[in-house]
Amino acid sequence: MSENVGITISNHFLLNQQLSPGATGSFTRLLQALVLACKIIQRDVGKAGLVDVLGRAGTINVQGEEVQKLDELANNTVKRRLSASGEVCALVSEEEADIIEIPRQYPRGNYIVHFDPLDGSSNIDANVSIGTIFSIYRRESLPDGDTTMKDVLQPGHRQVGAGYIIYGSSCVLVFSTGQGVNGFTLDPSIGEFLLSHPNIKTPKKGRIYSVNEGNYGYWDDQTRSYVDWIKHGYSEHGIHYSSRYVGSLVADFHRNLLYGGIFLYPADFKDPLKPKGKLRLMCEANPLAYLIEQAGGLATTGTERILDVQPNYIHQRVPLIIGSPDDVNIYQEFIQGQRTFQRS
Ligand code: AHG
Ligand code: MN
Ligand code: MN
Repeated sequence: MSENVGITISNHFLLNQQLSPGATGSFTRLLQALVLACKIIQRDVGKAGLVDVLGRAGTINVQGEEVQKLDELANNTVKRRLSASGEVCALVSEEEADIIEIPRQYPRGNYIVHFDPLDGSSNIDANVSIGTIFSIYRRESLPDGDTTMKDVLQPGHRQVGAGYIIYGSSCVLVFSTGQGVNGFTLDPSIGEFLLSHPNIKTPKKGRIYSVNEGNYGYWDDQTRSYVDWIKHGYSEHGIHYSSRYVGSLVADFHRNLLYGGIFLYPADFKDPLKPKGKLRLMCEANPLAYLIEQAGGLATTGTERILDVQPNYIHQRVPLIIGSPDDVNIYQEFIQGQRTFQRS
């Protein structure tokens, strides 16, 4: 057990800052603003059943999905808090079509944040765990100039930080700034996130697979063959895999990060408008790929490392296969035709 367990997230940030030569406190202030936004969202999620924030907002977002009232609330909270931090020069939300301009009254900083304000929205009314996901880049262009599309569309390996908050049986914030992955649990009685999961490492191999098998008929043959192998190839791999799928990416990812296993949202042919699958590169795949690699795991499209994908659109979708390295490597062998399985 790390001697730092129980340290507040603020002190963790300050320790990190002291270890970063030349740090100005700017990145710390950005992280503090993110933490405040998540505490506010946690409060709203916690009482969603009591005030009029459940259900649909009656609008459709850029993703073509029905916007939930809590989506809007979370989106506005993150926008407001990060803009007011004075540390960002551009924000990109899953909920908004274009890059979000920082209101004139706030100073601009040197960071770009892509975020999914509320992940797992379809589960809100059923009180299933949901979350917020964020991905942080440093601008490449000169500080006093306009933010460029090159600043906003950087490949995932250029992230300087990434994380998620899961609003579940407890509120846990998991993030990394490149020196490993740490988890903090909110103690609501004092309103502080305390270090509860120091230096998270994901198991090399797992016994859990997470995929929406309702899409089985829309996958490519290699993906179907892999899932058949998991379910029926016991004589080959000798493992009884369990199927676990919540339908909230943060919940499925968090469980597999801690227990081991593989999460798949492969490309499917269900919706011609989404030929690369449902999940978004910049605000879902990249931040989780950054975290899983920091924790010793892998994240791939099946043919390319997620963090190497060069984005060309802020709402670009990608297939996401992520988790324990041995499991992800076997999937890649199926996708690349090095392995096949036929049910007997
Ligand atoms: P969001 O609520 O931000 O749109 O994300 C929902 C995503 C993700 O959380 C989850 O893994 C996936 O949708 C589930 O999709 P299916 O219902 O198609 O399985
Ligand atoms: Mn999402
Ligand atoms: Mn969302």
